Amino acid sequence: MNNKKILFSTLAALAGLGASAATNDLVVNTKKVGAPIQPTMYGIFFEDINYGADGGLYAELVKNRSFEFPQTFMGWNTFGNVQVREDGPFDKNPHYVRLGNPGHGHKHTGIENEGFFGIGVEKDKEYRFSVWARTVDGEKSKIRVELTDPDTMNDHQAFCHTDVEISGKEWKKYTAILKPNRTEAKAHLRIFLSKPEATVDLEHVSLFPVDTWKGHENGMRKDLAQKLADLKPGVFRFPGGCIVEGTDLATRYQWKNTVGPVENRPLNENRWHYTFQHRFFPDYFQTYGLGFYEYFLLSEEIGSEPLPILNVGLSCQFQNQDPKAHAYGEELQQYIDDVLDLVEFANGSTDTKWGKLRAEMGHPAPFNLKYIGIGNEQWGPEYPEHLKPFLDVMRKKHPEIKIIGSSGPDSEGKQFDYLWPEMTKLNADLVDEHFYRPESWFLSQGRRYDNYDRKGPKVFAGEYACHGKGKKYNHFYPALLEAAFMTGLERNADVVHMATYAPLFAHVDGWQWRPDMIWFDNINSFPTCSYYVQQLYGLNKGDNVLPLTMNGKTVAGDADQNGLFASAVIDKANNTYIVKVANVGDQAQDLNITFDGMKKKQTLEGGKVVTLHSDVETAENSLENPAAVVPQEKAIEVSGKNYSTTIGPKTFAVYTFNIANQPK
Ligand code: AHR
Repeated sequence: MNNKKILFSTLAALAGLGASAATNDLVVNTKKVGAPIQPTMYGIFFEDINYGADGGLYAELVKNRSFEFPQTFMGWNTFGNVQVREDGPFDKNPHYVRLGNPGHGHKHTGIENEGFFGIGVEKDKEYRFSVWARTVDGEKSKIRVELTDPDTMNDHQAFCHTDVEISGKEWKKYTAILKPNRTEAKAHLRIFLSKPEATVDLEHVSLFPVDTWKGHENGMRKDLAQKLADLKPGVFRFPGGCIVEGTDLATRYQWKNTVGPVENRPLNENRWHYTFQHRFFPDYFQTYGLGFYEYFLLSEEIGSEPLPILNVGLSCQFQNQDPKAHAYGEELQQYIDDVLDLVEFANGSTDTKWGKLRAEMGHPAPFNLKYIGIGNEQWGPEYPEHLKPFLDVMRKKHPEIKIIGSSGPDSEGKQFDYLWPEMTKLNADLVDEHFYRPESWFLSQGRRYDNYDRKGPKVFAGEYACHGKGKKYNHFYPALLEAAFMTGLERNADVVHMATYAPLFAHVDGWQWRPDMIWFDNINSFPTCSYYVQQLYGLNKGDNVLPLTMNGKTVAGDADQNGLFASAVIDKANNTYIVKVANVGDQAQDLNITFDGMKKKQTLEGGKVVTLHSDVETAENSLENPAAVVPQEKAIEVSGKNYSTTIGPKTFAVYTFNIANQPK
């Protein structure tokens, strides 16, 4: 059946036309254990969009900490006698500030940082202030470091402070702990000379929570990183997205700028600062404090395969049509070297140049990199032309690394139809597909992968989300359709090896793109309905697909299938069968699930069902109500070899059945 027909019939089922009072007999064939579900199957896509890195996952609270933004004092207020100088200790970030005598005993000289939409601090938690500093004449001096209340109506502007003594002409790093006695989401950090006669130089002014994810000093926000870990992601794609490409090649993501001492990682623009005029954030830049080392480490700590995406020598084709915006001939070698050097950085021995740097940064053991994506949403003949030399070199030098090519920005159509065969010809291991599509598309795509070539490259559904009606909110209904669609990914696990919802994070005050999986402000964060869908798949991925049919057909929302989508897996370690059913229709459906082919001595013995449901299609979680729609778990009574139940309307249900051997 073509897509249009499936869509029509699914809509008919939703309207109740095809609804049947009869039981839906789902049959799971337990004998015919199908394709393995790849450990990488359900993963995460990370990009510094929506203040996902700077101002988000990266726990740095000071914006423009190195005074390298094009407007030196963006994010800062200055008062008294403040000068900018550019012969600082870090060659790639040469700017710093000089705080001098304000010229009058009672005046002050200092700087005040506004953070990212304010600085979020919590009562009784510790925050590590650090700064590189020196005194100009080598004498001792003091700076006062304060957290201030942005509400000028309050009696005491500074609600927490400490003094830091600075001495000597040499640049040194100074640290101090601030422990606020109250929670404030939008504080400022103010620093001023407490001894006005001394002249002090300051560089790389930083403030981090002490309690970061795994306690790393250059660390990540614990609540956000924990939410990633809780997804049990099999693969972690970084650093994006379009950000890889750059509006021009000069502004592309260059991983080599993101490793080594954090003070000397050069600033880059962030294209999301200006991509959408209606969501314009002129103060959005990439400091690379969160760089490739940190991404590899996070992958390891959350148990995912790292999946870096590198530039193929093409800048963003949406934003830059100039053919000169791409690298050709000899120039391309630099891009190929970046890929080779990345393999050395991740996997090379510690006596290689890049392996040594990894060890110096704290990780002598290899990161065990297995996958690299080359190119993001590229299109036209220039993409395969550019990709080929990368593949030739990688096949020779690193046949152990799987290479992911792209099928362009669209889920189907001219570029997609052109690029897939090109990727097959080039023998790419996987092909990255992107689909940000409406409800109707998701309803019609339950069978998308049923007829894919089983011998060609595997699929990486590398960016996708259901963009619902209206203003693309993180509503429940689009998330339900993602769950329905994902039964088709699972059923086709022989060809689909990875899938990552996108984007991942969004700051409530600073987003450019929605929907997104996790939202946050400066203190709190909450998972969306889509997050829970991803989590239900990630926690219940099982080991192998089991064929599941209804009237001899797989269940993918066809006209005669009453709005149902379903898939089944076996989880060998836990000795369970897991059946996922999405009912996208308005009516409850009776299900009779039979497990065919179980051994005689085997039986089902109890289990559980986890459901995600809302009566309201537009229901969503929020900072105010983070648990409006959350999964509900309950035990189920099962015995024998089948199970009858009713799935409610508009419900995603994950049934887990324990397999037991009958007593003799
Ligand atoms: O996820 C947001 C953007 O969508 C990505 O950067 C890009 O690859 C896609 O167009």
